[in-house]
Amino acid sequence: MNSSKPIALVTGGAGGMGLATVERLARDGFAVIMIDRDESLAKRETQRLVERGLDVQCRVIDLTDEDAVRGLVRSLPPVQALVNNAGIFDERKFLEVSNADFRRAYEVNLIAVATLTQEVAKTMPDGGRIVNIASRAYLGAKNHPHYVASKAAVVGYTRASAMELAPRGILVNAIAPGLIDTPILRALTPERLAAQLALQPTGKAGRPEDIAQAVSFLVSSQTDFITGQVLFVDGGKSLGGSGA
Ligand SMILES: NC(=O)c1ccc[n+]([C@@H]2O[C@H](COP(=O)([O-])OP(=O)(O)OC[C@H]3O[C@@H](n4cnc5c(N)ncnc54)[C@H](O)[C@@H]3O)[C@@H](O)[C@H]2O)c1
Repeated sequence: MNSSKPIALVTGGAGGMGLATVERLARDGFAVIMIDRDESLAKRETQRLVERGLDVQCRVIDLTDEDAVRGLVRSLPPVQALVNNAGIFDERKFLEVSNADFRRAYEVNLIAVATLTQEVAKTMPDGGRIVNIASRAYLGAKNHPHYVASKAAVVGYTRASAMELAPRGILVNAIAPGLIDTPILRALTPERLAAQLALQPTGKAGRPEDIAQAVSFLVSSQTDFITGQVLFVDGGKSLGGSGA
């Protein structure tokens, strides 16, 4: 890792939009550390990016392991940009979702975000940037109430963090992706995927690079007056129309 470069941490960086973000931030000039629990994928993708000349490393931990998260951050130099991207998604009917389902979703999608953010913020330089990947679904969606609630909580946590860290010039924003073509969509049956696509005003899913592009903007030094906001990158799904 080139110590003269600013460090970016990207969680869930081995898959989907996290991987696209790792590559994009490395091309933007960051020394990027991807964090993921999938060891073989993380090592393979890191190797692939390093072979392309990019400054990328990986750390394999489960983000719900609080001691591992805090220990990892303490072993690193101060982090300039943190992207809380890792998340889990599954479908449960409203009348069947269990407390365990809610706890699992909150552990990864919210509490792990809060733990990492808190630890990173202790040493983050003034002017640092934090981007949390929420979801368009936080506005409301069927068949995953635990996920919707956890992502609404991420938006709340983003706003709280933005208030807390603004005096240090640290900007905290959320991105709310719509349907993006990544492995997480394997949780949907083909019928449910088709139903989701039918709701997209643009008629198609987004690409991981669409999210990476938005992250790149929010962590850049071009922005220093945007904080506590939610940027929808969703092909217009949040517009709420029926499309008919
Ligand atoms: N794909 C979509 O349509 C979509 C839409 C809205 C929001 N999102 C959100 O975007 C983010 C990224 O989603 P994606 O589609 O790229 O997902 P993905 O499943 O392709 O990738 C997620 C990565 O996070 C890692 N991960 C999950 N839990 C972890 C944990 N506890 N510790 C460490 N690593 C962990 C996984 O190993 C995986 O590599 C998620 O927060 C997701 O909720 C996705």
